This record gives sequence, C-alpha cells and structure tokens, in this order.
Amino acid sequence: MLTANSTQTIATDRGEPFVLTSHEREAIEHAMHHYEDPRAATIDALKIVQSQRRWVPDGAVVAIADILGVSAADVEGVATFYNRIYRQPVGRHVIAVCDSIGCFLMGFDQLYGALQAKLGIRPGETTADGRFTLLPIVCLGACDKAPVLMVNDATHFNVTPETIDSVLESYL
Ligand code: FES
Repeated sequence: MLTANSTQTIATDRGEPFVLTSHEREAIEHAMHHYEDPRAATIDALKIVQSQRRWVPDGAVVAIADILGVSAADVEGVATFYNRIYRQPVGRHVIAVCDSIGCFLMGFDQLYGALQAKLGIRPGETTADGRFTLLPIVCLGACDKAPVLMVNDATHFNVTPETIDSVLESYL
C-alpha cells in the first residue's frame, strides 16, 4: 500500500525509495500557485514528472498528491484519464497510432500491422533497444488526413505502410 509523507521519500510497491528531484518539486509547487484550487495543477505536475523521467512511477503519484494536498487516488484518476501520461516505462519515442473511426476506415489496421512487423513488438510494448513504444490513441482531430499517428509530440498525417520508414528514421 502506498502512503504519502511530507519529505517526498516514499516507498514504492517494489520497496524502492522514491524521491522527487528538487527541480520536479519546485516546478510542481510553482505550477500549483497558478491555480486557486491546487488540484487543478495535477496534470501540470504529472507532465513535469513525465518530462524528466518519460513516465510517472507510483511513488511520483503519491508525492504529487502530497504536495497538492489531494489523495493519491485523485492524482491516479487524472493520470488514467489522460492517455498521454504513461504509468509504465516507455521507450525514447512513443508512437501513438489513431484507431478511431476515420483512421480505421482509411487503413489503420494495415498501418498498425506494418508498424508491429517493422518494430517486432505488439501494442503496448517497447523495442528491445528502448527506441520505440507502440500504442493506440483516440482521434487526434485530423481525420481528413487519416491515417494519423504521433511520435512524441509531432503529428504525422497520411501515414501508410510505405511511408513508415521515412517517418521513423529521424527518431534515433
Ligand atoms: S479518426 Fe484519426 S485523426 Fe480523427
């Protein structure tokens, strides 16, 4: 069972201590002061941790809750709601492929299958070299340019099995 404490040194469910860096802690406290209700800073806080670590460990959820004065369940709820907050380690680059209806009709299956074959991984997995993680994502709001995928924060349009290589080659 995870518990919060006031020093940000928190035992994770694997028994390892978790400590926010001073940079993370200061950035979260800074973000918190932009809002009347500290809980409004939850997504900012999660993004701050993820920007440093590429994912949000259990201990960070508890530490964020402690700083914001909310429950860890509240923070977990926000983390779960946002599909680009990662609660497990991911690769250096996250490929998120839109599987909503517009992209589905325009070749999602072929694109997703080709990506899995090229990378040698299944959805939710990371390549052995830690380069890519492959995930589905809901509509990215560019349905007229389907199929669409994101690599990290960059959106790529009209991606086909034939153009995968040119999309991925710049992500080392
Ligand atoms: S359905 Fe894929 S971007 Fe909208």
